[in-house]
Amino acid sequence: MAGSGVFEEIIDGDVFKYYSEGEWKKSPSGKSVSIINPTTRKPQFKVQACTQQEVNKVMETAKIAQKQWAKTPLWKRAELLHKAAAILKEHKAPIADCLVKEIAKPAKDSVTEVVRSGDLISYCAEEGVRILGEGKFLVSDSFPGNERTKYCLTSKVPLGVVLAIPPFNYPVNLAVSKIGPALIAGNSLVLKPPTQGAVACLHMVHCFHLAGFPKGLISCVTGKGSEIGDFLTMHPGVNCISFTGGDTGIAISKKAGMIPLQMELGGKDACIVLEDADLDLVASNIIKGGFSYSGQRCTAVKVVLVMESVAYTLVEKVKAKVAKLTVGPPEDDCDITPVVSESSANFIEGLVMDAKQKGATFCQSYKREGNLIWPLLLDNVQPDMRIAWEEPFGPILPVIRITSVEEGIHHCNASNFGLQGCIFTRDINKAMLISDAMETGTVQINSAPARGPDHFPFQGLKDSGIGSQGITNSINMMTKIKSTVINLPTPSYTMG
Ligand code: G3H
Repeated sequence: MAGSGVFEEIIDGDVFKYYSEGEWKKSPSGKSVSIINPTTRKPQFKVQACTQQEVNKVMETAKIAQKQWAKTPLWKRAELLHKAAAILKEHKAPIADCLVKEIAKPAKDSVTEVVRSGDLISYCAEEGVRILGEGKFLVSDSFPGNERTKYCLTSKVPLGVVLAIPPFNYPVNLAVSKIGPALIAGNSLVLKPPTQGAVACLHMVHCFHLAGFPKGLISCVTGKGSEIGDFLTMHPGVNCISFTGGDTGIAISKKAGMIPLQMELGGKDACIVLEDADLDLVASNIIKGGFSYSGQRCTAVKVVLVMESVAYTLVEKVKAKVAKLTVGPPEDDCDITPVVSESSANFIEGLVMDAKQKGATFCQSYKREGNLIWPLLLDNVQPDMRIAWEEPFGPILPVIRITSVEEGIHHCNASNFGLQGCIFTRDINKAMLISDAMETGTVQINSAPARGPDHFPFQGLKDSGIGSQGITNSINMMTKIKSTVINLPTPSYTMG
């Protein structure tokens, strides 16, 4: 159960504490923020409503702790990360239970998220030891006009304080995908969890606490975006922001100072299906890609662009699989569970009604109970419908029938987003040519889009983000190059 056993000290009464200076604390604001369970639509948990004063304090201590941490040997940093990973995995059950209650993630997927996060932390430790243990050595005489009188030594040094802001859909995993690289690289870390998912994040942070990280190195502040959101992202003590979420990230990018940014802001991932595709494979991937976690993934398949000649057969195959999806509470491990909030459900419904009014073919009847929306495939979607362009973040999937590959590529590239896309064909040459033409950070051939495995590069173009993620890229992004140049006297010793 949340807040029990080893997690007892993170709760006071019915309000979870925030983490600062290596301690669990109550905010002097005396205020709290309620977390609504998407399934019951009733308050489930409460977290501290931290104020700007608490933010100032964590920034101050993060700065001091980082200086010492940067001097801690790399192998020791790695050792602590491995310890945190093991503790996190050991306590996967209560953390997964928080995910079920806060974000209505199906029970098994919630456990998978925690285990994947432990693996990610361990991989960061191993990768960090490898890539941060190496530097470069350059000599001057490769550049015109220079003699061999300068030797340049470069290494990677930390940026300072990293601010991590994960989204509701992977509050634990997308938090550790920022925390792991930041810490192994010698940075300190301030975490601002999403409201839905905050309690799971606090439990995860406690695993780092139990592992014995130095005081002040990791902090976690909860509260209202209106009170501490801009204050955090514009704070002069922040040296790097790693954010995953919606278009709030665009506003953050405009306001943040001259610091490195890593932004992942959603997608409208297209699935292009050619005539020669294995349609059974496509149908399974559309189900997995479009409907897992009820479509609430930035990498979900969000529009199917299928050649007219195979569209009917494909739609029938997908319809048959949609009929088998189980719909209900996350505790029962249903495939389709309530979407995260009522406002999200209302937004999805708006897209469905717009498509209905403009003549899309409904392959199932539209059904909604509270935040629970039944899976819906919309065929014959036209470009004037909102669902053709907007991301529903729900179990609604549009199908657009195309008559040429060019039409599919054109639709994909006309999107404001450019996260991932996928192509289904047996012709690898065509797949490569289409991949080259698609303006997305990643193209999957014969599989649905996905971020993982977590060491693969992960990046979006256009409104989908800035910078590249994945473990190696994140470690590199959270460091800067430091050079030391040795200038030799001339003339040098003669050889031989
Ligand atoms: O929602 C955004 C996530 O980065 C997607 O991750 O592909 O593992 O579901 P995923």
